[in-house]
Formats: sequence, structure tokens, C-alpha cells
Amino acid sequence: MDLFDAMSTCRAMRYLKSDPVEPDLIKKVITAATWAPSPGNSQGRDFLLVSDQDKKIKIGDAIETAMASRVAAMERPDKTHRLMLDGTEHLVATLKSCPVLIFICGKKIYPAQAPRESFIWSSIYPAAQNLILAARALGLGTVFTTFQGAAEPTIRETLSLPDDVYIGCMIPMGWPDKNFGPLNREPFENVVHHNQWQGDLRAYPPQ
Ligand SMILES: Cc1cc2nc3c(=O)[nH]c(=O)nc-3n(C[C@H](O)[C@H](O)[C@H](O)COP(=O)(O)O)c2cc1C
Repeated sequence: MDLFDAMSTCRAMRYLKSDPVEPDLIKKVITAATWAPSPGNSQGRDFLLVSDQDKKIKIGDAIETAMASRVAAMERPDKTHRLMLDGTEHLVATLKSCPVLIFICGKKIYPAQAPRESFIWSSIYPAAQNLILAARALGLGTVFTTFQGAAEPTIRETLSLPDDVYIGCMIPMGWPDKNFGPLNREPFENVVHHNQWQGDLRAYPPQ
């Protein structure tokens, strides 16, 4: 698939089938994630793949307990919010049946002489985006999530995570149960300044 086509149709996919994803495809996606840049090529991130049903149930239930009522109570002032939050509600309720939950985890290792926490995220986020795009190119759906933070103690215990390992994000991955399609993003003119800051070119957040 053309890279630009993949990028421009790579919607957050919150509707995932429970059908299994072949290990070779998972390996391909994770390998593409390892190609992402990191500060000083420190590569201070690992990928924790959770496909064990009991563990997915523990994690999915903990996230659902922590998040379901919170998401249900969030306002949906327009179609964009309605679609996103309906999707999030669905995802929270179905996490345990996603074929694989991918946690990208990092350690505070860079720079070696004075490691900083910010460099953990600098390593995790590009890897996450590579992963998401590689999955899209193969027809797989993913969504970048941070809401798992609401259930972090249970997740850490379930996954035997040592205290010095940070969870950067969780990416559920599976075959999509909705269509990919065009993204709703600010156009070039609304986000590009020429040679100097030209003031607010748009309303924040997008209307
Ligand atoms: C740092 C970050 C955190 C996110 N956290 C969540 C999350 O916790 N739950 C969720 O459903 N989506 C989450 N998302 C996905 C965004 O909501 C999504 O990318 C955005 O709304 C654009 O949607 P689209 O790609 O479908 O156009 C997150 C994305 C990023 C980059």
C-alpha cells in the first residue's frame, strides 16, 4: 500500500474483530515499529504483546471498571465527539476479545550520564506511530490509547512489570470491524507559518 494512502486513511480503529492475527503479521508490524528513530538510537522501548486470554480478561475488566462510566458520562456535543466516544465505549467493553494488546514500555536510560523521563516518551511515540502505520498497510486496525493508565496497578501486576519500566501506551490490534477512511484534520494553510510565527491561524481545539 502506498505510504501516503496508509497515512491519510489511518483512523483510530476502535471496532476490532476477535479473529486471530497471524504471528507472522504481528512480527512484521513490530519489526516496522523497531525501525522508528529514538534519541541517540538508544531504543529505550520494548513491546509487550498480550494474547493470553486470562491476562486479557484481567486487563480488559480492570480498564472497563475504571473507564466505562467515565466515558459514558463524557459530553458528545457534535458528531465527531459522538463517534469518538461511542467508539471508545465499545473498545473499553470489548478489549478482552481483541486478539492482541500491545504495550510499548520504556526505561529511563537516556542520556546515559543523566537519564531523563522525557526521552522515554521520545522513544515510545515514534515507535507507536510506525506500528500503527505498518498495521494499516497490512489492513489491520489499531488505536493508540492512554486510558489504560486508569488501571495501571492491575496491568503492572498482571504483566509482572518492574517498577523501573514505564508504560507509554497500549495499542489494541486486530482486523477492523469498521471502514478506514479519510481523516478530519486541519488543512496545511491552518497549521503552517512562514518564516515567523503568524499568530493563531485557527481555533484551538478544532471546531
Ligand atoms: C497520545 C494519544 C493518546 C490517546 N489516547 C486515547 C485513548 O486513551 N483512548 C482512545 O480511544 N483513543 C486515544 N487516542 C486516539 C485519538 O483519540 C485519535 O488518534 C484522534 O481522536 C484522531 O482520531 P482519528 O485518527 O480516527 O482521526 C490517543 C491518541 C494519542 C496520540
